[in-house]
Amino acid sequence: MDSTDRTKVAILGAGRGGCALIDLLHHIPSIEIVGMADHDSAAPGLQHARDLGISVTTDVPDLISNHGVSLILDVTGDPEMETYLHAHKPPAADILGGSASHLLWTLIHHESKLEAELLQAEKLAGIGSFAAGIAHDINNPLQLILGLAENLAEERDLDAVHEQARDIIEAVKRTSAICRDLTRYSRRASPHEDVPVSVNGKLDEALKIARYASSFHDIEMIKQYQPGAAVKGNPDELLHVLVNLITNAVHAMEKRGGTLTLETTVHDGQTNIRISDTGSGIAPDKIPEIFEPFFTTKSPGKGTGLGLYNVKTIVDKMHGAISVDSRIDRGTTFTLRFPNVQPSAQGSTS
Ligand SMILES: Nc1ncnc2c1ncn2[C@@H]1O[C@H](COP(=O)(O)OP(=O)(O)OP(=O)(O)O)[C@@H](O)[C@H]1O
Ligand SMILES: [Mg+2]
Repeated sequence: MDSTDRTKVAILGAGRGGCALIDLLHHIPSIEIVGMADHDSAAPGLQHARDLGISVTTDVPDLISNHGVSLILDVTGDPEMETYLHAHKPPAADILGGSASHLLWTLIHHESKLEAELLQAEKLAGIGSFAAGIAHDINNPLQLILGLAENLAEERDLDAVHEQARDIIEAVKRTSAICRDLTRYSRRASPHEDVPVSVNGKLDEALKIARYASSFHDIEMIKQYQPGAAVKGNPDELLHVLVNLITNAVHAMEKRGGTLTLETTVHDGQTNIRISDTGSGIAPDKIPEIFEPFFTTKSPGKGTGLGLYNVKTIVDKMHGAISVDSRIDRGTTFTLRFPNVQPSAQGSTS
């Protein structure tokens, strides 16, 4: 988004109201928070704003007159501030006072709760299609355990007993790893603050999950990962994005097989993630529609058409961009671009 299109917002008051507004507004790409002011330099919201890279000041006149502010949110609760603002605000700026700001907060909060519900609903609908993959992957170790246990019942040689017991333990561990991956994926995205997430690790995790949802039969995999590729965001949500894009790519190659390429690159302060397939491609006139909610070319009952809509919602929230390049019968590449961040000190991530 062009920075001139963004609504420039100043927040006055760094108490609980100011903190809550910052938390909600800084995720919205169409809003730029130009600064937060409070007379009290120790107000809790000021530190919170600094942590999010938002400039803070105790100088209200400077903030409202010198930064092209178009909306002033006054949550100071100070009647004198209201009078001051009406006398001194730049002519083009609007003021929202305490109760109007609170209403704005309630509406945005409500919307982000609905968005989270939609993400979860789409994820759970997708998990329905995992059933066959999970049943297959759990059945294999179970059959092995059954065979080993039948042998054990007859076995007299103690060394052989020990060896088979070890094989059983390995098979049980494999089965529980499958259950652990899926329960982690199906849980609601945890609401923690944005953190640095190592992209290469998340791509591998997404690949494991996507394998349950779709058959990778006749699909060749190419991974080209640049070490250190990291973005800032919610790890559960990034996983959701990658699972959706990989699943779509695999579905597009369902009929004839093909090559799935996962690539990460870091340059010019940007982390790029590229997911390419050599599948059916998307007709040029359909490309503008694929990010719309409920757009699907799958047969009824097969897809929700919410996958790419949710992908776009999350990418926007992470201040990233998504683009698509596709040719009918040749394949499709989805490219995600994010500001690069340093992986966290522990080698990153959640
Ligand atoms: N890699 C791709 N290759 C070809 N077409 C694609 C690709 N990714 C998306 N599409 C097209 O975009 C449509 C919308 O994708 P989206 O992920 O939003 O929903 P869906 O995959 O149809 O349903 P769901 O995600 O619920 O399974 C798909 O139905 C398909 O027509
Ligand atoms: Mg999809």
